Amino acid sequence: MNMDELKDVLTRYGQLQVLRFFDELDGCGRKKLLGQLEELDFASLDRLIKDYVLKKPDFKLPEKLDPAPFFPVNPRSEAEADYYRRAEEKGKEMLDAGKVAFLTVAGGQGTRLGYDGPKGTFPIAPVTGKSLFEIFAGRIARLGEKSGRKFSWYIMTSVVNHAQTVDFFRENKFFGLDEAQVFFFTQGTMPAVGYDGKLLLGSKNSLSLSPDGHGGTLLALRRSGALDKMKADGVKYLSYFQVDNPLAPMGDHRFIGLHVLENSEMSAITLSKTGPFEKLGNFCIADGKLAIIEYSDLPAELAESRNPDGSLRFVAGSPAIHVISRDFVERLTAGGELKLPYHRADKKVPFVNDCGELVKPETPNAVKLETFIFDALSLAEKTMVMEAVREDVFAPVKNASGVDSVESSRRMILSKNAAMLKSAGVDFPFGADGEPLARVELSVRKMADAEDVRDYVSRHGITRIEPGAEIFLD
Ligand code: UD1
Repeated sequence: MNMDELKDVLTRYGQLQVLRFFDELDGCGRKKLLGQLEELDFASLDRLIKDYVLKKPDFKLPEKLDPAPFFPVNPRSEAEADYYRRAEEKGKEMLDAGKVAFLTVAGGQGTRLGYDGPKGTFPIAPVTGKSLFEIFAGRIARLGEKSGRKFSWYIMTSVVNHAQTVDFFRENKFFGLDEAQVFFFTQGTMPAVGYDGKLLLGSKNSLSLSPDGHGGTLLALRRSGALDKMKADGVKYLSYFQVDNPLAPMGDHRFIGLHVLENSEMSAITLSKTGPFEKLGNFCIADGKLAIIEYSDLPAELAESRNPDGSLRFVAGSPAIHVISRDFVERLTAGGELKLPYHRADKKVPFVNDCGELVKPETPNAVKLETFIFDALSLAEKTMVMEAVREDVFAPVKNASGVDSVESSRRMILSKNAAMLKSAGVDFPFGADGEPLARVELSVRKMADAEDVRDYVSRHGITRIEPGAEIFLD
């Protein structure tokens, strides 16, 4: 598109203001801004602005909304127990055959944590201070050792943190993984739009762009060549988790096995919510299809509704852990386009005003539009939901303090490690409230599961942990 054509388009859609400092820019600045504008599809953006920015879209609750069924942690019958055993064998078989790769979404901005850097670089491990990325890398290395494979790890970054993320891996020599095992790919962006429907400038030579939500993962997998690489490597299943959860189960045998046996295209783990308003997505059957309804969208009367026995009806929360079939991603993104619904988020977005000054607003002034990966569930032919024990799989790091914080996450890691040692026969000290009285961090590089922990303690003759101890078992 030449300059005149671009100006025409911008005029047609009422966005010419993005060029108001253009004449002041040097060659590089002009190139940058023009590059960003050329990427945009103004016709669809204009529709989105009308539908999501100029009016607040009412979240339309499906006509018929019911809680979703799931495979419970404890099998309901001998036949189900048998099925779980078969699933576990199947899952192990898939890992051993190299049909599984790992996928982490790490493109978010981590604003709530108030940490200056990619969230994956945050030093979360309670004793050693290892980062989230190092924890996942260690587990991938250990799982690889157990399966005799070098598993691939796909990490989605975004324009806000890509370079820092890659540098972090380089500085740390990929935490012992081969560089070729780690495939970084960058998600797309969406421009922030002011409440008046105008695109904001983040600086004179740039729009205010932000990551397009983790729904962007699917298309980014295709555009980056990741899907082709998976195909060439014989990978069929992606073990998906968020960078903010150091306890995320990776390559869980039962989960992968059930996904395969159920012919599921996209599967999910669920856990019981701590209360009606816990900030977790809710598994529902919406008009006959599995869907996750975000915590902010589930009306209070539904969130609080109860079964005759007093238990919550919508008890199944989402820790955002999935298995996704590669074929499904290929199908969804076949035309190079993916139709997931947008979600509106009202944000405080810094912008350049008419005088060219950067303004940092105190109250929300703009809308960011994101898509969510879990909206793909309702596009799948077949899905599967499996319950897991919260303490085993979920220790999210979202906030600087309080719930889902650094402190609560570290406490949960220590509790899980203590419980694993106890199950392995170690005399571990617990207080009357069940809290561990010693701080023991297990090396993820050495111990990926209960079997590893049992072997480790027996090899090292560990029978007892003293109260007050602070140890890293490596
Ligand atoms: C998310 C889920 C929620 C789930 C909860 C479990 C959404 C909208 N909701 O809530 O259903 O119960 O986690 O912890 O996701 N990310 C990207 N790119 C983006 C945006 C996010 O990679 O453009 C990544 C983040 O790095 C993070 C994850 O997605 O790993 C979750 O994003 P976040 O915005 O923190 O979601 P939550 O509100 O915590």
